[in-house]
Amino acid sequence: MTATLDCRICGGTLHEFFDFGRQPVADAFVDPDGGPEEFFHRLAVGMCTSCTMVQLLEDVPRERMFRTDYPYLSSLSSVMQDHFTSTAHRFLDTELRDPGDLLVEFGSNDGIMLDTIRRAGRRHLGVEPCDGVAEAAAAKGIRVRNAFFEEETAAAIAEADGPAKVIYAANTFSHISYIDSVFRGVDALLAPDGIFVFEDPYMADIIERTSFDQIYDEHFYFFTVRSVQAMAAHHGFELIDVEPLAVHGGEIRYTVARPGVRTPSPAVGRFLEREKAARITEPETLAQFGANVDKVRDDLRALLERCRAEGRTVVGYGATAKSATLTNYCGIGPDLVSFIVDSTPAKQGKLSPGSHIPVRAPEAFATPYPDYGLLFAWNHAEEIMRKESAFRAQGGQWILYVPGVHTVQ
Ligand code: SAH
Ligand code: TMP
Ligand code: ZN
Repeated sequence: MTATLDCRICGGTLHEFFDFGRQPVADAFVDPDGGPEEFFHRLAVGMCTSCTMVQLLEDVPRERMFRTDYPYLSSLSSVMQDHFTSTAHRFLDTELRDPGDLLVEFGSNDGIMLDTIRRAGRRHLGVEPCDGVAEAAAAKGIRVRNAFFEEETAAAIAEADGPAKVIYAANTFSHISYIDSVFRGVDALLAPDGIFVFEDPYMADIIERTSFDQIYDEHFYFFTVRSVQAMAAHHGFELIDVEPLAVHGGEIRYTVARPGVRTPSPAVGRFLEREKAARITEPETLAQFGANVDKVRDDLRALLERCRAEGRTVVGYGATAKSATLTNYCGIGPDLVSFIVDSTPAKQGKLSPGSHIPVRAPEAFATPYPDYGLLFAWNHAEEIMRKESAFRAQGGQWILYVPGVHTVQ
């Protein structure tokens, strides 16, 4: 583990703007019967004063985060399933024109996107280091290489399969601190006229909505169009398109190509102007973000303490990795939130990292309904509120903390 104030992209100096203190590995759920001692690290963020990339100051070893038993399963959300099915169709319609064209996805998880490419009978490969989720994809008939995507892996794929027309990564590229090795891998694998497409949480949305729980060990970089443009150029590529996405509380899909091969879309310039106008890289904006984080913490604690004092029950909904930062930073434990329900089999029966709130199956939410549901999976609000419409119908209220603490009746 290295702690540094040097930018991992350009070597510039980092301006630290928030410190969440000691935090656990956000997807390392705890066995209630005991197990290995929990690993804690310092979670702090800074922005590079040269290239403006926001990044963690401390790097958790990847083997601690992306283990054999990594619990996150992409396919549990029907909204995300629709999102990735349409993403796959877009690639099929616009890029994979020749029957021999290859698409490589890293961070393919349980195959949520690649399954559509497989069904279309097209050449594909998933690269996924976590055995459990990689096996889930392989069981669907998807080609998976059980490895971390980096220079050596990419070179081996290029050797075995030839160049890729499309390299794709969703909610994965920004997880990887050793991004220089990934870019060298993309360079080794990408066809001369190919595209590298990645989608990740958007720092401008995180600032605007104070969605600070997006900051946890697995999310190493926090992209803006400006910082991604600088990062691509630094590694010999060109940012040619950006597209805002509504999923996961606000993301951007970036398209990168070899320089001069494709004409950049006017959307790139539009977003750069918008980011400048919003002053998202100004130190005052980042200082205000910090003040907003503490207001959310104070408001949420006050509301939960009032519930406890009045004897009202609160159950968490969605044992998200994000909720590790929220519960540990705000000091929320089983005294304030009795348990969390979650549809992920591997999380059920465990305790939330650091805050040790028990995790149960979704059925526990209704037996009996609590007074309040604290929506940790706020990025899936529409889907969950629809699924759980009976909760509100019988008088239950949702507590949300993005943007700001509020209740929904
Ligand atoms: N693409 C999916 C999964 C995102 S979770 C989705 O958007 O829902 C991030 C995934 O990236 C995990 O499955 C993790 O195991 C994987 N991952 C982390 N580092 C990686 C690397 N270097 N190469 C490939 N996959 C990686
Ligand atoms: P995410 O915000 O990182 O995608 O995590 C969402 C978590 O919420 C994940 O553990 C699965 C869980 N979940 C449910 O329990 N029910 C649902 O309906 C959805 C969409 C997610
Ligand atoms: Zn930098």
